[in-house]
Amino acid sequence: MSALLGKVAFITGAGSGIGRGIAERLARDGADVCITDIDLDGAQDTANLVTQLGRRALVLKANSASETQIAAAVASCVETFGSLDIAVANAGIARAAPVLEMSLKDWQDQLDVNLTGVFLTVQATARAMVQLRRGGRIVCLSSLAAENTGPMMWAYSATKAGVRMMVRGWAQELGSQGITVNAIGPGVIETPLAQGLAGEADGPIRANLEARTPAGRVGRPEDIAGLVSFMAGPDGEFMSGAYVLMDGGLRDARVAGAPSPEVAAEMGRHMAAGEARRRHLQPLLDERD
Ligand SMILES: NC(=O)c1ccc[n+]([C@@H]2O[C@H](COP(=O)([O-])OP(=O)(O)OC[C@H]3O[C@@H](n4cnc5c(N)ncnc54)[C@H](O)[C@@H]3O)[C@@H](O)[C@H]2O)c1
Repeated sequence: MSALLGKVAFITGAGSGIGRGIAERLARDGADVCITDIDLDGAQDTANLVTQLGRRALVLKANSASETQIAAAVASCVETFGSLDIAVANAGIARAAPVLEMSLKDWQDQLDVNLTGVFLTVQATARAMVQLRRGGRIVCLSSLAAENTGPMMWAYSATKAGVRMMVRGWAQELGSQGITVNAIGPGVIETPLAQGLAGEADGPIRANLEARTPAGRVGRPEDIAGLVSFMAGPDGEFMSGAYVLMDGGLRDARVAGAPSPEVAAEMGRHMAAGEARRRHLQPLLDERD
């Protein structure tokens, strides 16, 4: 495929999961890719996938919650590739806790990355697009959680609902510059962030999820990447201000009752793994200047 040949894509949080899938897909479509993340190892692995596809990759350590870091990354991208045609505000975190226990730090980190980070990414990339005068395509990651919420999820949901509304305003402001802005609402996609919800292959969480999902399977980063490719490509020209849910039909599925002991045991293991990953990434997330 070559629908994006000659285009340059800038992706935040591209060192893992959905962001990595998007980088790979856009490279497959012909784009060169600026891969930004707080985690350089993950970003480098993604860059290797992009270069194996014959496209150019630029790895940049940038915290999307930092105005200076994200502005510097956008400047490096434009300086290196001479353009910036597609921006994907993908970086996101989830800090699940009940209201009685949520720490101010966890609340604030979610706002900083999921709302301020998306705003800073869109502002910096849109400024570059306006200056380059070639139009552009911007995609922001919202979530099924923008529509459905529940215990422990409400703070994450609030940030993702905010993304849906920001995108609608930005689409109005940037349309005259030839820039479209859209949001995607993934359901449960198998990535490190959602391991506790997606479970492992052949495990009890996965079996329960597959049984409840009309599409009969868990989501994959490629599913979301295909939609980004559409929004960024020639067929997406007339789409702006949209929010597209991609969840295999899960939104309206019956909610399961209390988890079985097998599901609860698997959830416990994923929570422990998630906590270990968080301890690794938190010091990087705290580097903002
Ligand atoms: N996986 C799902 O089921 C799911 C569902 C709905 C929405 N989403 C959203 O999709 C996006 C990607 O999620 P994922 O599942 O691929 O997560 P992930 O944890 O696998 O990947 C996220 C990447 O973002 C990076 N990151 C985190 N904070 C950052 C920051 N401040 N600056 C730069 N990089 C940062 C991490 O290092 C990681 O590489 C997120 O916005 C998430 O909220 C995911």
